[in-house]
Amino acid sequence: MVLLRFLMETYILGIESSCDDTAAAIICNDVICSNVTAGQEVHKNFGGVVPELASRAHQQNIIPVVDTAIQKANISKKQLSAIAFTRGPGLLGSLLVGTSFAKAMALGLNIPLIEVNHLHAHIMAHFIRNDAHTNPIPKFPFLCLTVSGGHTQIVLVHEPFNMEVIGQTIDDAAGETFDKAAKIMGLPYPGGPVIDELAKQGDGQRFGFAKPVISGLNFSFSGLKTAILYFLRDQLKIDPEFILKNKADLAASIQQTIIDILLQKLVTASNSTGIREIAIAGGVSANSGLRTALLAGQLHHQWNVFIPSLSYSTDNAAMIAIAGYYKFLKGEFSNQQVAPYARSS
Ligand code: KG4
Ligand code: ZN
Repeated sequence: MVLLRFLMETYILGIESSCDDTAAAIICNDVICSNVTAGQEVHKNFGGVVPELASRAHQQNIIPVVDTAIQKANISKKQLSAIAFTRGPGLLGSLLVGTSFAKAMALGLNIPLIEVNHLHAHIMAHFIRNDAHTNPIPKFPFLCLTVSGGHTQIVLVHEPFNMEVIGQTIDDAAGETFDKAAKIMGLPYPGGPVIDELAKQGDGQRFGFAKPVISGLNFSFSGLKTAILYFLRDQLKIDPEFILKNKADLAASIQQTIIDILLQKLVTASNSTGIREIAIAGGVSANSGLRTALLAGQLHHQWNVFIPSLSYSTDNAAMIAIAGYYKFLKGEFSNQQVAPYARSS
């Protein structure tokens, strides 16, 4: 049976609805055929994701998004071998929409249902292959810096679903820090990509922010957020146009500080484990400064570096589909009683 699964052409529908992106993707074995995401503009006016509005938008988006993914893959839903969905962590109301939809569709088509952990999926995005299977994938064991809006972790990946968190934030996540810094500067949500763009024109050494001293491989970002808040409050008292005049340098300096904090721990993790296969994952892995810093690590630390393509960095369903494919091969299916969870255990 397991051998048969390897030989078959397997189509899996992946569904992601953990936060404010409604996404669906079709994978044929480990090659993506379609990858569709509907973002939610509705949150922009509120400076952050409003859970109630997110669930409602998922309800509106899920059918057209799944339908488009199937059409773009040029298959019929009858060809699907299984449906994979994000079970958690995330916003419960948002997860419920994707979970309920996946359960109903799997039941209707009489095919297996596969639950996927959102954070595992960000890491598993590295195993998506191109048509010719020529893109390099990490060798086990490898280290993955998973940096998103809700999480900052250094994960020791032994096997596809054997992952050990060896360091994590004790307060705010890296993405949250980008978003909060942007908010303090009066920039729109989500702040990460906005700061990234501004930073390209700025001097990252212009303003110095103290870095936290945290033992081991853990991170802390709440002090940086407070430092930015107090620094700008003091500067604005002297010059009310301080932010306006120094936007790019501020963005670059904040970004540089976040990257330095992340990289310092990643280097420590690599040195202490002796692992030189290094990957990044999650929304913040889209950051151009972080990508450049990681590439520099190839030279400075003899790392073999893996950076996901931009479409697989921020939340997407392709990563759910590839994680689903690996579970499909192992025959790891869920039953119809499965319920979403907001936090990972
Ligand atoms: O993985 P993700 O899409 O959603 C979660 O699972 O949280 O990550 C979203 C986070 C947000 O905080 C967003 O500001 C950040 O990723 N982000 C970025 C960039 N693109 C997205 N942060 C820095 N630079 C970027 N280019
Ligand atoms: Zn994510």
